[in-house]
Amino acid sequence: MAAPGTRRLGDPPPAGLLDPPERMSVDELRALQLERLQWTLHHAYENVPHYRASFEAAGVHPDDCRELSDLAKFPTTSKADLRENYPFGMFAVRHDRVRRIHASSGTTGRPTVVGYTERDIDTWATVMARSIRAAGGRPGHKVHNAYGYGLFTGGLGAHYGIEKLGATVIPVSGGMTPRQVQLIQDFRPEIIMLTPSYMLTIVDEFEKQGIDPRSSSLQVGIFGAEPWTEQMRLEIEDRMDIHAVDIYGLSEVMGPGVSQECVESKDGLHVWEDHFYPEVVDPLDPDIAPVPLRDGQEGELLFTSLTKEALPIIRYRTRDLTRLLPGTARPGMRRMEKITGRSDDMIILRGVNVFPTQIEEIVLRTEGLSPHFQLVLTTEGRMDALAVRVEARPDTPAGHRSAAAAALVTAVKETVGVTVGCEVVDPETLERSVGKLQRLKDRRRR
Ligand code: DLL
Repeated sequence: MAAPGTRRLGDPPPAGLLDPPERMSVDELRALQLERLQWTLHHAYENVPHYRASFEAAGVHPDDCRELSDLAKFPTTSKADLRENYPFGMFAVRHDRVRRIHASSGTTGRPTVVGYTERDIDTWATVMARSIRAAGGRPGHKVHNAYGYGLFTGGLGAHYGIEKLGATVIPVSGGMTPRQVQLIQDFRPEIIMLTPSYMLTIVDEFEKQGIDPRSSSLQVGIFGAEPWTEQMRLEIEDRMDIHAVDIYGLSEVMGPGVSQECVESKDGLHVWEDHFYPEVVDPLDPDIAPVPLRDGQEGELLFTSLTKEALPIIRYRTRDLTRLLPGTARPGMRRMEKITGRSDDMIILRGVNVFPTQIEEIVLRTEGLSPHFQLVLTTEGRMDALAVRVEARPDTPAGHRSAAAAALVTAVKETVGVTVGCEVVDPETLERSVGKLQRLKDRRRR
């Protein structure tokens, strides 16, 4: 690893800069959450026919929520519920109060549509500003925002938060990679926000242009919208000489800024619990109202919004897998561990669960292999087969490729417990990401 360079901005914000809820004790926060949860359940029940029907089917009424643990009696909400009520059926306010709409395309079918009132947009900007501050951002900084603008929540979500913080937003959006490098060189931002996979594309572009990425003005990168690993953090921090921190969120719950890693601890993401109530449940639990697991146990993450007006969301099944841990840098707010993956992305290979993040860790630890890889699922006979197609690093001698492939296959067998194929291909041959990366190519016969 290269020697530490000029990375600064790694300090925690002075207490005076924090939002009051960030300084609350667990007890204070629980009291605030209960009051807000009761309001949310009533608001959803009274204004959204879907919630009234689903609460009644489960035999619960908002008045049954007397303490936070009563939430477990209420039914969960899924992406399918939003699709069935396409486009605006889940909205809880009149249309003239909706100031903005976003939508996530998903892979199949109708997009899921979400809406925001003026107050929702302000709440979102507040939690985003809080996130950027936790990452090291301060008023006066310049922030290069390469999350996509448009129906995706990334671009505009970050944009409003940067402004709310009192920083300067450079609204670049994704794409036109050579220009991204030029703007970073010319405008000299301290902070960059984009997906980690697109960061890698930009780092490569720096090198292609003969510029040392470690010499840029950037000091912090705020990466999210897709799973990424500790190994990827080290790769990006080393090649860019920046702090790489994780930001999480999803459209149905708000957008980016639901939880954020603090730069001084980099130990998982603090959930902004004054606005979003997290639970973790057994993903296989078939119950209509799954029982939350204890903090520390791994499962599927659920969120209930606590202040949202236009689209209150009750026990939303994110499909993301993680566990909840006690707060550290913000002692009152629980942390969620870095997301292992989505239950939808899990590959079941001969009975063994495989997550793309497990392969990412191994690729990045294997000498001679670059971080650019794809997973290809095919059918061999009656069985599924998985192959890792990965680019060699530019400086890897051709003769070392088969050794690198063999090392990867062995490491996957030893740590994940399955046999995969591996093909090491030339640098710059696999498709590059400009936003969310789709690693898995499913070429199985149906
Ligand atoms: O991706 C919101 C976002 C934008 C988050 C920019 C962070 C930065 P959706 O398009 O609705 O919203 O996708 C949400 O993306 O359920 C996760 O599966 C995944 N995801 C988001 N952040 C992370 C992260 C935005 N930090 C879905 N780590 C979520 C892992 C993430 N997965």
